[in-house]
Amino acid sequence: ERVIELAPSVLPCDFGRLGEELAALERAGVDRIHWDVMDGLFVPNITIGAPVIASCRRYSSLPYEVHLMIVDPERYVREFVDAGCELITVHAEATRHLHRTLSLIKSLGVRAGVALNPATPLTSVEYVMDQVDVLMIMSVNPGFGGQHYIEAMDAKIMAAVALREATNPNTKIEVDGGISEETLAGCVMNGAEILVSGSGLMAHRDHLAQAVANFHQLAR
Ligand code: DX5
Ligand code: ZN
Repeated sequence: ERVIELAPSVLPCDFGRLGEELAALERAGVDRIHWDVMDGLFVPNITIGAPVIASCRRYSSLPYEVHLMIVDPERYVREFVDAGCELITVHAEATRHLHRTLSLIKSLGVRAGVALNPATPLTSVEYVMDQVDVLMIMSVNPGFGGQHYIEAMDAKIMAAVALREATNPNTKIEVDGGISEETLAGCVMNGAEILVSGSGLMAHRDHLAQAVANFHQLAR
């Protein structure tokens, strides 16, 4: 029986009261917190850095995963581990030495993830899959929340599952971008196991527990 995890993105949260927002998400029953870190270079937006995650660590007991949308992420991997992240996800397009970066993450005793932009082929991770704990398929162009799910990613999610079966059955498949009640069931059908949702979930901010229960129900 596949375990499906719901990972809300912090992007739509009120950054002026992040601790309270995280506690509310935990109470609502989400499985993990997805931190979107953007540097204004890899993507045309700037969000938060490790100090914010570190100061939020005590407001939630949920696992923290960080999605590093930054160039040369190897420079900051250790900082995000020290901030309390158990999964560090880097973009294959953002580092010249992906194998070495993944080795660095694993050497710090946390899980390593690779994110692929919509146009990036799966072959870019084919030879490092033995190091990949989570393969994240971007179903929007990174940089912003509230975008539409890119339908062409359905086939890529299925292909990612096939790649995982052929190279590393322990790799989890994550999908990030445009996930809502409308798109969630399809993603799970195609093989997604960790679902990131920002605007889709936070649209239900005033009845979050109900929305999370609904998301989990749809993911069965
Ligand atoms: C986009 C981020 C996503 C985004 C998800 O660059 O990586 O995590 O915040 O937000 P929605 O669910 O609104 O697409
Ligand atoms: Zn993300």
